[in-house]
Amino acid sequence: MKGIVLAGGTGSRLFPLTKITNKHLLPIYDKPMIYYPIQTLVDAGITDIMVVTGGRNSGDFLRLLANGKEFGLKHIAYTYQEGEGGIAEALGLCEHFADGQPICVVLGDNIMEKSIRSAADDFRAQKRGARILLKEVPDAGRFGVAEMAGERIAGIEEKPLNPKSNCAVTGIYMYDETVFQKISTCKPSHRNELEITDVNNAYIQEGTMSFSFLDGWWTDAGTFDSLIRAANLVQQSRTNNGITGDQQ
Ligand code: DAU
Repeated sequence: MKGIVLAGGTGSRLFPLTKITNKHLLPIYDKPMIYYPIQTLVDAGITDIMVVTGGRNSGDFLRLLANGKEFGLKHIAYTYQEGEGGIAEALGLCEHFADGQPICVVLGDNIMEKSIRSAADDFRAQKRGARILLKEVPDAGRFGVAEMAGERIAGIEEKPLNPKSNCAVTGIYMYDETVFQKISTCKPSHRNELEITDVNNAYIQEGTMSFSFLDGWWTDAGTFDSLIRAANLVQQSRTNNGITGDQQ
């Protein structure tokens, strides 16, 4: 399985922090934000990784990450998204890289405590379709929200005013090779983006969507409040593991 980190977009919700740098290069406690999703993929046994960048500071990703030696990688592939046409548009740029293989996508601002390896192994065994990771949250309306129907997902609504459950769709998506055909049929949403939720709903309608629940804490880091929450959660984890940033 190949891995993809989506780090395009302009980070407008974090302005002026993102005026002179890319959101995914901002610090989360002791590391730049982009380190976390890359480590998530590596910990799931995925070593063939593409990073989608964008904006004016995209060259900084190459200077920071180079060939991924810090993660034990030999090489990182990069591509560039012009503008911010949405998560599905950014993923569509990776078709050539995926080359017909299954992919595991992590949003560049998603930070989580525990490994996703068991979900990745379940998807490897699944062979076709898609698998998403859900997390019960108190503020589901900020996310894509899964409507549950017993053991399956009936549908996903993007940032609903009245969420039908407290199950947020996290920014970790596993897809078979048909994802690119599904993206090609997406139409821009009211926020003028190709929505990953539309892609996921296409799998649900096809009856090939499965899901796992994510272990441990999970947060995005794309707003002021979630940015500081992410840093605090990482610091707390380090402390619980007997490591403080100043000792490293
Ligand atoms: O964090 C999980 C949520 O992420 C999901 O629950 C939602 O269903 C999904 O739509 C997404 O919601 P957001 O509105 O919070 O996504 P945001 O626009 O903040 O983008 C998240 C990341 O996706 C961002 O850090 C980089 C990447 N991205 C986003 C856009 C709009 C791109 O690479 N290109 C883009 O054009």
